[in-house]
Amino acid sequence: HAADAHRTDLMTITRFVLNEQSKYPESRGDFTILLNHIVLGCKFVCSSVNKGEEQKKLDVLSNEVFIKALVSSGRTCILVSEEDEDAIIVEPSKRGRYCVVFDPLDGSSNIDCGVSIGTIFGIYMVKDDHEPTLADVLQPGKQMVAAGYCMYGSSCTLVLSTGKGVNGFTLDPSLGEFILTHPDIRIPKKGKIYSVNEGNAKNWDGPTAKYVLVRFTLYLSFYAVAIISLELQTWFYDNDIMMNSMVADVHRTLLYGGTFMYPADKKSPSGKLRVLYEVFPMSFLMENAGGQAFTGKQRALDLVPTKIHDRSPIFLGSYDDIEEIKALYAAEG
Ligand code: AHG
Ligand code: MN
Ligand code: MN
Ligand code: MN
Repeated sequence: HAADAHRTDLMTITRFVLNEQSKYPESRGDFTILLNHIVLGCKFVCSSVNKGEEQKKLDVLSNEVFIKALVSSGRTCILVSEEDEDAIIVEPSKRGRYCVVFDPLDGSSNIDCGVSIGTIFGIYMVKDDHEPTLADVLQPGKQMVAAGYCMYGSSCTLVLSTGKGVNGFTLDPSLGEFILTHPDIRIPKKGKIYSVNEGNAKNWDGPTAKYVLVRFTLYLSFYAVAIISLELQTWFYDNDIMMNSMVADVHRTLLYGGTFMYPADKKSPSGKLRVLYEVFPMSFLMENAGGQAFTGKQRALDLVPTKIHDRSPIFLGSYDDIEEIKALYAAEG
């Protein structure tokens, strides 16, 4: 009856995290309660996306659901959402020790073209019950205690790390539970796919242009010339299979290897992606899966944000591929 045993031994995300937390005698289940409320928000967005809600409404709806779920968990003290200009300080009666930074709906411009979209979140923990301030979330990504994303595609997959590896859970709609389907995800050491929006190619700096060229065409010595050939190249290669949805692009990179890049360019010298709730959570996951995350200048998780919506260039993915990018930036000096 092995199959039956397997069928009845349901490793839900709640049970998985409880197992993990039980290794910490001092943990009182607070993290599990917090996570359950994040999971509630993900289930809501998953069902709304499947109902075909239109984008604008979904951007607002998902933000409201996550804020209400997180506040009602009684385990948070400050929240940062991509959709809110200012941080949300939780009312004293409902405060806990966790700070959650999140992008309620990432890639939302893709809703109408069927590309998977997602929710991204990162979790910091404060040490005591002081009055929450922005300083509690303007911390380097390496201080996060957990991070994850939920991808709303053909199925709903939640990928989570609490700092000891990465695990993936798939929503079983008949149970309404996220079941462990991708235990201990490890990103391949080297990949064949890079994902970058080449629309910005003419504004890239040297190392980025070189890296992209070295991957797919003979490297030409002057990257100015390289850009021209890159223009030509975009017509002949379908190599930047970037889906313009960070969650979908990162999920593919995590499972198949390769790199995801949103470099700086002349138009946006800090790149486009936001540090707290896009760069840090995805970098945290990549490092926990054996990959790397680099800003062009430093390890992404060492960045110290100064404002809650700060942006940073980001190169993340397979260990060896990112080493190549780091070498190109080091050579540029
Ligand atoms: P969001 O939908 O949360 O605003 O984020 C969109 C981001 C990210 O998903 C993606 O990698 C990037 O925007 C794509 O930007 P471009 O369309 O400029 O390439
Ligand atoms: Mn986003
Ligand atoms: Mn968003
Ligand atoms: Mn947005």
